[in-house]
Amino acid sequence: MMRRFLPFALALLAAPAQAAEPDPALYAQRCAMCHGAGGQGTHEVPALTGAFVARWAGAPVADLQAYITRVMPQHAPGTLSAEEAARITAFLMALNGQNPAQQRVEPLRLSVIH
Ligand code: HEC
Repeated sequence: MMRRFLPFALALLAAPAQAAEPDPALYAQRCAMCHGAGGQGTHEVPALTGAFVARWAGAPVADLQAYITRVMPQHAPGTLSAEEAARITAFLMALNGQNPAQQRVEPLRLSVIH
């Protein structure tokens, strides 16, 4: 019984977590005042497109989400729930033409360089 159940349980553990829905409204509310409505950044705040993707390329999306949860929004770090951070991370993935369900940030593609 256990022998038959175990591989199934392991497969479930290995399955990627359900990706959160991208939440542009939440980004607009919590992040856009610094990073810009389209993630374009300012002279003081880094963009969340372009070089940002190059910097995070190859990193697990979970690491990006953990960074956001821990450090952002910069004036109020630690105020996002895990669920909110997941929805905002999914939005950043979508904003950069990437699938929020993928495991890692993919290298920058020419089509998404602004
Ligand atoms: C008060 C202004 C401010 C707000 C609001 C803010 N950020 Fe930031 N963010 C910054 C600054 C400044 C940096 C660069 C600081 C640093 O690198 O330590 C940064 C860096 C980042 C980075 C790293 C960029 C890189 O290229 O590696 C990410 C990702 C990020 N912010 C996401 C977010 C998200 C998501 C939100 C909304 C939940 C948010 N930020 C809200 C100011 C802000």
